[in-house]
Amino acid sequence: MNTAIRTQMSIHTEVMDLLNNQIAMEMHASASYLAMASWCDQRELLNSKALFYEQAEEEREHAMKIFKFINDNGGSAISPTVVNVNNEFESLLAIYEKSLEQEIAVSDSIKKIFKKARTENDFVTEIMLQWFITEQAEEEDKFRSIIDLFDLMEGMPLKMIDERISKD
Ligand SMILES: [Fe+2]
Ligand SMILES: [Fe+2]
Repeated sequence: MNTAIRTQMSIHTEVMDLLNNQIAMEMHASASYLAMASWCDQRELLNSKALFYEQAEEEREHAMKIFKFINDNGGSAISPTVVNVNNEFESLLAIYEKSLEQEIAVSDSIKKIFKKARTENDFVTEIMLQWFITEQAEEEDKFRSIIDLFDLMEGMPLKMIDERISKD
């Protein structure tokens, strides 16, 4: 078999670049959730703390899913540098609002790659990203429900609101 055929990628080059950016975005989300977990941990907000430690793990898993996908398909996955992680937060509500904002940005990015894959007839990437589209809808819904809880329980002590937040 000639080298050109052996090294051929099943993913489109520009799509691969976008996927590498997505790895960086997922790792940044992971680091950001870790900072949020620390804030909650220091304030004994037990359910929120557990939720954000878990989120940090999940985002890393998302990054790894894409990382392995690129390499499994003949591409080059790039280990990203994670910079500009915010460790200071105003309140628990601000943390959840930031989380929702972050998830919406990730959803938009995934949809953009999905569209590009479709335009380039990169079916293998399109199929892989279907899982992420569903996952993002669930993630956004999770944070929207928690923010609703703050509205419903307005004026209640923070620890009581935290107790009503489901850990997963
Ligand atoms: Fe993610
Ligand atoms: Fe997420």
